[in-house]
Amino acid sequence: EFQQRVFSGVQPTGNLHLGNYLGAIQRFVALQDRYDCIYCVVDLHAITVWQDPVELKKQIREVTAAFIASGIDPARHIVFNQSQVSGHAELAWVFNCVARLGWLNRMTQFKEKAGKDRENASVGLYAYPSLMAADILLYRATHVPVGEDQKQHLELTRDIAQKFNSDFGPTITRLGLGLGETGEAFFPLTEPLIGGPAARVMSLRDGSKKMSKSDPSDLSRINLTDEADQVASKIRKAKTDPEPLPTEAEGLKGRPEADNLVGIYAALSDMPKEQVLADFGGGQFSTFKSALVDLAVAKLGPIGGEMKRLVAEPEHIDAILRDGAARARVLADETLNQVKDIVGF
Ligand code: ADP
Ligand code: NA
Repeated sequence: EFQQRVFSGVQPTGNLHLGNYLGAIQRFVALQDRYDCIYCVVDLHAITVWQDPVELKKQIREVTAAFIASGIDPARHIVFNQSQVSGHAELAWVFNCVARLGWLNRMTQFKEKAGKDRENASVGLYAYPSLMAADILLYRATHVPVGEDQKQHLELTRDIAQKFNSDFGPTITRLGLGLGETGEAFFPLTEPLIGGPAARVMSLRDGSKKMSKSDPSDLSRINLTDEADQVASKIRKAKTDPEPLPTEAEGLKGRPEADNLVGIYAALSDMPKEQVLADFGGGQFSTFKSALVDLAVAKLGPIGGEMKRLVAEPEHIDAILRDGAARARVLADETLNQVKDIVGF
């Protein structure tokens, strides 16, 4: 339908939160009118750290439900889970042989997730970025909407695409498989779509940490399935400083907690931070927090409700995933067959 293709994924690792929604899922929804979109529940990524099998199954359905409840249309676009399309793992292997150790050694997410006991991290956690490159390039996606935390992985994806294109350049040209006028490149250099006021939503308890699924404090994040009273109490308890809100964005510098809440309001209402400050700047923080509670409940309440309704019908969700995988597989097989020809298999 469209010329350009979007791919993105969310891990089924529990506790889907406002950061996942504003940094990723809400933006996935908005892109549907301009791109062919492929949205994936990335279960192969999830098992790079231990997942209880029964929980994993539930969480795959929960992320799928979140996609659909948020407004992703699985009939017009593709929604599926990664393990059902074996091309992801196959292309990742080829990319493991294209990517250099030095490139992966620089990945900060691995260092954070592996922590001090690096010797005990899974090999999969280390190789995660080359699987992510495979996810994207298997569909030759041109654009990837993600949160700020994924920027480095997107740069690696471009490095892998570029090295593959140049290593195999003569073969790509000989086989006539290149993109564009020069016909030398097989994989596009994918553009990240990072940005907006909620590219990095921070913890409600600590403005220096990102809001995260794995934060032990439930007060640090708003989960998509939280009830209205939980959302309200988490926002009221959110850490702030004693100053009133500034009237201009400049005044948010050095005030990470205030900046975060203003960014959340801006992203939820689809207005710039400047507009939020024009409306609330100079006033009491408590007034702003009350308005944020109303906005968050109005926006997230229906999504959480619909998620709960959908997960109560697992066979319906499984049917959506099966249909999505069948359609994804057609696109994936085409790329993978060409890659095999290019590599010389
Ligand atoms: P998490 O990082 O919470 O474990 P994923 O890795 O599955 O979740 O990320 C899903 C999407 O949500 C990615 O695009 C990621 O960049 C985005 N994301 C995760 N946390 C945040 C956050 N705190 N703010 C903005 N976007 C986020
Ligand atoms: Na992430």
